[in-house]
Amino acid sequence: MNDHKERIAAQLLAVRDRSLTYTEADDDLLIRQHSPLMSPLVWDLAHVGNYEELWVLREAGGITPMRPEIDDIYDAFKTPRKDRPTLPFLGPAEARRYIEGVRGRVLDVLDSVDLEGPSPLHRDGFVFGLVIQHEHQHDETMLATLQLSGQPGLVREGDLPPGRAPGPEEVYVPAGAFQMGTDTIPWAYDNERPATWVDLPGYWIDRLPVGNAAYAAFIEAGGYDDPRWWTPEGWEWRQRRGITTPLFWTKDGDSWWRTRFGRTEPLPMNEPVQHVCWYEADAYARWAGKRLPTEPEWEKACGWDPEARRARRYPWGEADPGPSLANLGHRAAHPAPLGAYPGGASAYGVEQLLGDVWEWTSSWFEAYPGFRSFPYKEYSEVFFGEEYRVLRGGSWAADPAAVRTTFRNWDYPIRRQIFTGFRCARSELV
Ligand SMILES: [Fe+2]
Repeated sequence: MNDHKERIAAQLLAVRDRSLTYTEADDDLLIRQHSPLMSPLVWDLAHVGNYEELWVLREAGGITPMRPEIDDIYDAFKTPRKDRPTLPFLGPAEARRYIEGVRGRVLDVLDSVDLEGPSPLHRDGFVFGLVIQHEHQHDETMLATLQLSGQPGLVREGDLPPGRAPGPEEVYVPAGAFQMGTDTIPWAYDNERPATWVDLPGYWIDRLPVGNAAYAAFIEAGGYDDPRWWTPEGWEWRQRRGITTPLFWTKDGDSWWRTRFGRTEPLPMNEPVQHVCWYEADAYARWAGKRLPTEPEWEKACGWDPEARRARRYPWGEADPGPSLANLGHRAAHPAPLGAYPGGASAYGVEQLLGDVWEWTSSWFEAYPGFRSFPYKEYSEVFFGEEYRVLRGGSWAADPAAVRTTFRNWDYPIRRQIFTGFRCARSELV
């Protein structure tokens, strides 16, 4: 295998290690549905293998199906999450055997394909990037399931850099056009393409994500009891569900606590807030006299280099996201303290854009002009419209392989089991 193929093989191995670590549990924990929002963990495990079989073995490798009778069970479109526990899915031992069998053949395909060939699935290893990113995304989903399960374990403390003393609260991004999306990042998804010029007026954006202390101040100021801060849909959701705090927060006397992977601990006031839905983020921003950034505002602040007049792959440039630049890859099972990554700042001086928490934007998930679905419509196209809000930046649970300035995630505005926070922005006063 050449160097490029060796790197792909190493990434395939790393992501599989991760999936197997998250599913080293007794069968009951893997088979049970911990929340109607989530799949049984063993479904995710076999689903990543089935997806790998579909795309690498059948589509890219021309190999006949290994287990065609299970395809429907693992088709996320045919089986909504709430119905998955009733499916005849593979048990843990069989699922592990199946994904291992697929993987052996995948390495044979990798060995034989021409990564410089004309096929868009083969070129630059796109199809391998597709399955590597897909598996990492499911691993993050599995972590959210494990957090909801309340089972102990998977709390990693890692070794994160310390926070820093407060600096400027906001950064000004001057008016001007920038290039959004990409034509050149080999493993970018269809929804990040094509690159497109977007002209924005000047705006202010928070240098850091909103922290737990600031969010607690919103709660203590009666933020959850004042419909002025909420959209009508958000207020209706808050009332009906009786929501008064982020998910996994509790209050005891004057002190705030959070529960993380089965362990209850004092809420660290200097970490970015997480487990808030879009409605909560939007209400906080209005209370603070600001608003959520639009998706183009977020991406310009993150990736645009105004001097070089080009987009960076990461806020700091092209260097891989190492441990001194961003909190990614589940090094610790929580966001890093605010201000922990001065070296990870963008050209404009905005920090902690990648890693720590996904960040809600005010934008719906929509196609860029000139969008073409690839390699299949169900990855992005069927989700476009005014139903899902865009999330950016990746969380502590996201892997560097599935994070970049152009990467787009999306979810319903009520979702908060994901590792999500936000930062605020505001228009330039005229
Ligand atoms: Fe999937």
